Amino acid sequence: MSNNTEKKILRNEIFNPEGSDSAKDRKIFGGNSSNFLNVADVKYQFGIDAYNKMMQNFWIPEKISLGADIVQYLELNAYEKEIFNDLLSSLTWLDSAQMNNLPNLIDFITAPEIKLALSVQNFQEALHAKSYNNIVHSVIRLTDSKDLTYFYRNWSRNKFLEKRNNFFLTTFQEFQDNPNEFTFIKALVTTYVMEGINFTAAFRHFYDFVYSKNMLFGTIDTIKLIHRDEDSHASLFADIINELIKEDSKILQKNLKTSMLEEIIKEGAELEKEYISILHKEHDLSKTQLTINTINAIQAIEYITNVRAKKIGLNIIYPNAPETDPQEHLVKVSGLDAKTGGLKESFFENTVTNYKFTTQDLISFDDEEEEK
Ligand SMILES: [Fe+2]
Ligand SMILES: [Fe+2]
Repeated sequence: MSNNTEKKILRNEIFNPEGSDSAKDRKIFGGNSSNFLNVADVKYQFGIDAYNKMMQNFWIPEKISLGADIVQYLELNAYEKEIFNDLLSSLTWLDSAQMNNLPNLIDFITAPEIKLALSVQNFQEALHAKSYNNIVHSVIRLTDSKDLTYFYRNWSRNKFLEKRNNFFLTTFQEFQDNPNEFTFIKALVTTYVMEGINFTAAFRHFYDFVYSKNMLFGTIDTIKLIHRDEDSHASLFADIINELIKEDSKILQKNLKTSMLEEIIKEGAELEKEYISILHKEHDLSKTQLTINTINAIQAIEYITNVRAKKIGLNIIYPNAPETDPQEHLVKVSGLDAKTGGLKESFFENTVTNYKFTTQDLISFDDEEEEK
């Protein structure tokens, strides 16, 4: 995928007194910024919009009651427990990797409004990983160090999960070790794939616990809040990629041709399909009460992949995928809008059962005022 014109890019200095603070001089990367946070005037409004959206969604995992889930988890059969644990471990890996990847991307971003948004995103990724930890300790109740090691090292026993994880790890590490235009853009697109595609299949399985078994509401509320965050992260990365294409299409053409972007997206989706298929086989999905089956899960991944590809101006990746979401019943549980893939306005207030503290209690945002 690489070519011979890879242009080195420089890590930001802590402060660059020779740099400019002016919005008009800004570039997403490779600009000459002072590295000062000056967002009084901005070039990339989507960075501020993403910041506002994420701050409006502010939540604290420790405020979600998991009490009832402790008893309900014990009522799951062995297969259901294995699927629950396997997916939770897989999600913890994704968020941990993202938490370690983002600071490296931020170090090369030269637009302060985008840095600001990515810094909040990074905080959220840490919060997500901690939320999964809370479920591991409070609901699954793993305290023994052997059990904990078994849980957290799931990736090392499942070669399909390891293969999927390595797709991200290789690209993120490649950029960290050798930062240039090519590895940077590849890391951006791969981050978009994780945020927009790879989290979703696992989330849908958790929604199925509510749909088919009417239980584990605390865990599912946590997942809903994380899903909403991931959705805003996917939008932020789509905006960054679209802006790069608009601003300097040569950068993308030179470094990653359209077909290569499609290849990255397809590879991420294929690896997720493979992991989910194996998960269903390994833990015998037919012995659970979940409504998801392997064909349906694969169709849903393909549908979501097409939606994400279109968002960054690409052709659909899977021409035979359904045109509407094949897991609409689970999307309803999530509070997401099935048509747009976005979140319903009333999501927070109407669907989270135990969590009442919102930033609306603290502050009102300009865009909210405008909507009234
Ligand atoms: Fe996350
Ligand atoms: Fe994320």
